[in-house]
Amino acid sequence: MKNILLGVTGSIAAYKACELVSIFRKKGMSVRCALSGDAEKFVTALTFETLTGKKAAKDLFALPDTRSPEHISLAEEADIVLIAPATADIIGKIASGICDDVLTCAVCASSSPVVIAPAMNDNMYRNPVLGDKIQYLRSKGYHFVDPVEGNLACGRKGIGHLAPLEEIVKKTEEVLAATCS
Ligand SMILES: Cc1cc2nc3c(=O)[nH]c(=O)nc-3n(C[C@H](O)[C@H](O)[C@H](O)COP(=O)(O)O)c2cc1C
Repeated sequence: MKNILLGVTGSIAAYKACELVSIFRKKGMSVRCALSGDAEKFVTALTFETLTGKKAAKDLFALPDTRSPEHISLAEEADIVLIAPATADIIGKIASGICDDVLTCAVCASSSPVVIAPAMNDNMYRNPVLGDKIQYLRSKGYHFVDPVEGNLACGRKGIGHLAPLEEIVKKTEEVLAATCS
């Protein structure tokens, strides 16, 4: 059984991560969730724990169940890390090597492939600083599922809407198939 570490961040699209958990579980995959610092402002850990049947990681300094710190065991268990939705903030942090919550630490500690599905306001997505970070991460082997045009939290339509879940699932399966044989 493949283990997915699903990173959820503080985007208005965070509720869609719940559906992603269900899709992966129906496909027979094991899913654990790690929440970024602000993810719970949108969806609670309880929801992810109920959907996955596993503890959701949200506090870097919580006492771990095992000898290993939680972000290290999460990183070691995962065959793949998927961050969906991924905020501008988390993308910038990963690209800069910042490790200030359980999710960024797990990503940094993981030697498995990482798939990132950004979701944000259109101007945030077009920001050249973020563009450079995304390009940099691509050059380091991180995989992206690009956002699409759609309704944004600000009320207008534009680029930055989370990619359709089927595309995110397809990309995750492709990357898994290419890297875990
Ligand atoms: C209502 C609301 C919706 C937001 N949606 C997004 C979003 O879709 N994408 C994004 O990059 N930031 C969004 N933000 C800003 C992030 O929540 C903020 O940058 C946060 O610190 C991200 O933290 P995290 O990456 O640790 O989850 C939103 C903020 C608010 C108040």
